[in-house]
Amino acid sequence: MSDFQLTRTLDEHAADAALRADVRDGLTRTPKSLPPKWFYDARGSELFEEITRLPEYYPTRAEREILLERAREIASVSGARTLVELGSGSSEKTRHLIEALPALDTYVPVDVSESALRGAAATLLADRPGLRVHALVADFTRALKLPDSPGPRLVVFLGGTIGNLLPPERAVFLAAVRAMLSPGDGLLLGTDLVKEESVLVAAYDDAQGVTAEFNRNVLAVIDRELGGNFRTADFAHVAVWNREQEWIEMRLRARARALVKIRALDLVVPFAAGEEILTEISAKFRQEGVRRELASAGLELTHWWTDAEERFALSLSVADGRTR
Ligand code: SAH
Ligand code: TRP
Repeated sequence: MSDFQLTRTLDEHAADAALRADVRDGLTRTPKSLPPKWFYDARGSELFEEITRLPEYYPTRAEREILLERAREIASVSGARTLVELGSGSSEKTRHLIEALPALDTYVPVDVSESALRGAAATLLADRPGLRVHALVADFTRALKLPDSPGPRLVVFLGGTIGNLLPPERAVFLAAVRAMLSPGDGLLLGTDLVKEESVLVAAYDDAQGVTAEFNRNVLAVIDRELGGNFRTADFAHVAVWNREQEWIEMRLRARARALVKIRALDLVVPFAAGEEILTEISAKFRQEGVRRELASAGLELTHWWTDAEERFALSLSVADGRTR
């Protein structure tokens, strides 16, 4: 017997309106930028899965190593009966945690990609037929309405995706997560760590060009959904380490000057030769920074685990005693 439900909190109309607003805002400002969640249509989700298998993209392997090593410990500390996963994607690594939680009642994967949610649920339910899976197609930066399910609750946010938010966005996000936690609940957070520049840049600019294709996919989404005429080949993928901010910047650089029309917005966007669109940041962390950001949101870091090479960290935190 399989128990699967999917709730869409983003109706087509709202999603379309949000895409229009984001694209208009982002492409009419200086410097130009686009928010990262629009990478993840079905093709984008597939390309991301390909990224996770690239030799240069170490975060997935490092995080899986930690999860395999620590799943039992995380399970016994949290005793979770409900697992809520934000930006769950394929849920591939999460499976190790689910296997370590025999008393788990409900798994709530949350993602903007419905195709990723459906794929993940099918695989999980094949292994664990008794599990209740209640998928939410939702934007994790917005207020989430979680289904009723038994506690304790463990919220997991893997893949270093928190690093794709800007610091003020992270503060708002973590405060919202804090508000989802009751006493006894926890947050399991994956953060990629600061390391040598060459290793970082290679992870976001691989030799096979998969990351480049993933980055350009956001232009394909605009062309398809909003009648744009970006020619993806006219934009080069650029990954730069910003040493002051300690984040990788993903950009798309116009190879020549261009006028891009976006029919649904009645907009013409001029590009100078070499002009760039900032499409994503991926912040890298140190333990003290993670602890501080969690503390500012009312969360107390209780555990910190890394892989053997200290490339990536998983932390566990709980709501601190303060009433908020
Ligand atoms: N957790 C997985 C996937 C990480 S990739 C892993 O560790 O491998 C980031 C995931 O977050 C993608 O599946 C993407 O669709 C989703 N995502 C990105 N922005 C989002 C948003 N604002 N709200 C919900 N999901 C989002
Ligand atoms: N959360 C992933 C990360 O920051 C997302 C990601 C990996 C990504 N490679 C990318 C986003 C390339 C944009 C472009 O590692």
